[in-house]
Amino acid sequence: MINIALPKGRLGEKVYDIFEKAGYACPSIKEESRKLIFENNGVRYFWVKPSDVAIYVERGAADVGVAGKDILLEYEPDVYELLDLNMGKCKMAVAGKSDFKDNTDKTLRVATKFPNIAGKYYKSKSREIDIIKLNGSIELAPILDLSDVIVDIVETGATLKENDLKPFENIVQISARFISNKVSFKFKNSEIIKMCENITEYIDK
Ligand code: PRP
Repeated sequence: MINIALPKGRLGEKVYDIFEKAGYACPSIKEESRKLIFENNGVRYFWVKPSDVAIYVERGAADVGVAGKDILLEYEPDVYELLDLNMGKCKMAVAGKSDFKDNTDKTLRVATKFPNIAGKYYKSKSREIDIIKLNGSIELAPILDLSDVIVDIVETGATLKENDLKPFENIVQISARFISNKVSFKFKNSEIIKMCENITEYIDK
């Protein structure tokens, strides 16, 4: 049995389609239901909150899974990153009000869901910051003067645009990654390697 943690939502459904084509079908997963676990023919899928996939894989509740590079960079889980699935693409960027001017005499107030990524980025630039950790709707922070800038995911750019914000700097490109638990990779090595090979055929280049 191979246990696979998939991120719940639109990305997870696209990921499942690749896995299905690659030979890991589990038709019941497509039925409308509130179920979270699906099993067929030696594979067991779980629907997991996207930001939790890496925890399930790191702790071995799942052998493999699919997590965004943003989550891997933020939480630095002790897992193997095996494949870039070249989907769920977006970037981590610094954004703020269009008239924002950085005053380097002052500590920069940065609102973000990703304090580790933001902290490392500004440390690399030797810029002193005050991190304001939020859990969503980050774009509100500079508008209400809770922060000077935000560090957040930009996909289409629509959320920034509709809130009159502008991206200033790109920090890193993000995409979905196929990850493995380290112990599973040792003990289920041939299955996981085979899975990588089968999936690779269906990744958009
Ligand atoms: C993410 C991100 C931005 C938005 C970017 O939020 O935090 O707000 O998507 O997408 P766009 O560039 O295509 O507009 P999410 O939908 O995860 O909700 P959140 O506000 O709860 O973080």
